[in-house]
Amino acid sequence: MKVIVTGGAGFIGSHLCLRLLEAGQEVIAIDDLSLGQKKYLDPCFKFKKFKFVKEDLTKFNRIKKFFKNVHRVWHLAANSDILAGAKSTDRDLKIGTIATYNVLEAARLNKVKEFVFSSTSAIYGEAEIKPTPENYGPLLPISFYGASKLACEALATAFSHNFEMKVWIYRFANIVGPHTTHGVIHDFIKKLKKNPRELAILGNGQQAKSYLHVNDCINAMIFGLENVSNEVNLFNLASSGVCQVDKIADYVIQAMGLKAQKKYSGGIQGWKGDVAQVKISAEKLHNLGFKPTYDSEAAVKLAISEILNDKKYGMN
Ligand SMILES: NC(=O)c1ccc[n+]([C@@H]2O[C@H](COP(=O)([O-])OP(=O)(O)OC[C@H]3O[C@@H](n4cnc5c(N)ncnc54)[C@H](O)[C@@H]3O)[C@@H](O)[C@H]2O)c1
Repeated sequence: MKVIVTGGAGFIGSHLCLRLLEAGQEVIAIDDLSLGQKKYLDPCFKFKKFKFVKEDLTKFNRIKKFFKNVHRVWHLAANSDILAGAKSTDRDLKIGTIATYNVLEAARLNKVKEFVFSSTSAIYGEAEIKPTPENYGPLLPISFYGASKLACEALATAFSHNFEMKVWIYRFANIVGPHTTHGVIHDFIKKLKKNPRELAILGNGQQAKSYLHVNDCINAMIFGLENVSNEVNLFNLASSGVCQVDKIADYVIQAMGLKAQKKYSGGIQGWKGDVAQVKISAEKLHNLGFKPTYDSEAAVKLAISEILNDKKYGMN
């Protein structure tokens, strides 16, 4: 099977490319390397069936030719720099929504049969029901990132209905693990490497969210693909429990062998647009038989040690 992974040099994309190659698939990774790193794909270059294309998905005429004879597209490219997205109002629109339209259109023109999309719990905004199930509404995101992802989901379902392209939409919790490019663990390690005596924490530290290990995330997506095949297939991906930002700070400080002082910027949100309390329900996929290996707390602890012990691709 020939597949495309957009955002293939990113955190999740690089793990996914390797997994698909190991399963014998032919993989084309498209990434402009704006946030990802080509070195994360080192293990993939050992496979003859792997091709890397450095290209910007907002340039439709440059990307459409790569979709020829492709069976499935995994669309993971997006703006994962949420703070940058909060500051410039068209960043998520362009890299998120317009790029997603381009990928869908290129897929349609080349009669791609299956489209897998990495969405987010941010589309729920400040949901009143927790754990939040997939059929929760109205969907009122509070960030440009969440707004863009919601628009992408809508485009994907419209393409699916009109052009017989099956769609799998996965709304991720916070994903953690090696090859990190962003996120709270990445942020804390980076800050502590710069100043081991003090750790600046955005918000009051009481933010609590679901965390899922990247291996569980990939297992869950593949499980969904193998077990349900409707026109549109929609799933939250999360593990059980939540982990507080303050606890993550303690775990990182401890794992780095430091005694840093924690300094809080204050307020219940880390930044404007941050959903401070996130707990999404993963029951739908669980009821089909999928269970992640790690709960939120265990996923966070494992990811911290994997990132700190990763000499080759870690944050050195
Ligand atoms: N990591 C998480 O916690 C999380 C949570 C929810 C949803 N997601 C979604 O999962 C997907 C993957 O996230 P990630 O954590 O691996 O992020 P990432 O930033 O590591 O990967 C995204 C990749 O997309 C690439 N990219 C960005 N704009 C591009 C463009 N215009 N053209 C080509 N490539 C482009 C980047 O260079 C990067 O390598 C994203 O869609 C993200 O929104 C991630």
